[in-house]
Amino acid sequence: KKEGHENKDEGQTVKNKLVLHRGFYLISGIHSPEEVDSIQDLEIRDSDVFVITYPKSGTIWMQQILSLIEGRGDVTVTMHKEASQRIPWLEDAGGKNRFAGDPSPRLRVSHLDYKFMPRALKQKRGKVIYLARNPKDILVSYFHFHYYAAVFETPENFSDFFEKFLEGRVFCGRWFDHIKTWYSHKDEMNFLYLTYEEMIQDLRAAVERISMFMGKELINAELDSVAEHSTFDEMSKNPYANYRNVSDELLHQNKGAFMRKGEQQHVGLRGQVHTVL
Ligand code: A3P
Repeated sequence: KKEGHENKDEGQTVKNKLVLHRGFYLISGIHSPEEVDSIQDLEIRDSDVFVITYPKSGTIWMQQILSLIEGRGDVTVTMHKEASQRIPWLEDAGGKNRFAGDPSPRLRVSHLDYKFMPRALKQKRGKVIYLARNPKDILVSYFHFHYYAAVFETPENFSDFFEKFLEGRVFCGRWFDHIKTWYSHKDEMNFLYLTYEEMIQDLRAAVERISMFMGKELINAELDSVAEHSTFDEMSKNPYANYRNVSDELLHQNKGAFMRKGEQQHVGLRGQVHTVL
């Protein structure tokens, strides 16, 4: 416990903390509430792809897969640039201008709630891939992530964090609200619903679905290569695919790893999503 308190103080020196904005927790120093509000007005092109996730659902995995699909399976495209540079966060400060100025195809990841997203998505412009993961596995992953990521307050213990997670007093709020709002609007958008668990079970099949949805026709050998270079083991070896290069100021590299276990402990939500919601 003593150590926990020390960690807490350490986190505060980074000066980042959760800020509640229109019912949704953002991180001060990383997000600007005004900028987040202006995302709704962005012009969307049909080739834009947004990967939407609640934290710890496998966002980094999708960053790797999308880069590889764009590079037609050529792994070198993932070896010189951070995942977050290749497929950036839409909502990070400065991200909106970068998005507006980038050439097509604009590929982005986002944790934002449905209500913040560009309105044009509802006119079926662009594409949305929602990646879901069983919340029990997210809970465990997120708990460990709170020790690893400097921006977050170190939990007192697991049950304290469990309470916070259930009540939504964490970055991105309640998992239930996140998936429910996105999933309930799925028919308004070009929307692909994917689960972490189906990717664990058959990565090659998931890669093919994703590339078809993106409108990228890859030949079999290219699809094989995308799948081969986006396994947990391959990503663990590539520092540009696992955030090992990120400074200790942001990620306590001696206290954990982004690629922590990469396992499915609980069932996927494919057949169950209606009951959960
Ligand atoms: P664990 O902490 O359970 O290991 P995010 O990028 O949304 O924060 O998600 C991180 C989680 O996805 C971590 O979960 C990480 O190990 C897992 N992950 C990332 N790449 C993966 C892969 N190729 N295969 C399986 N799991 C992966």
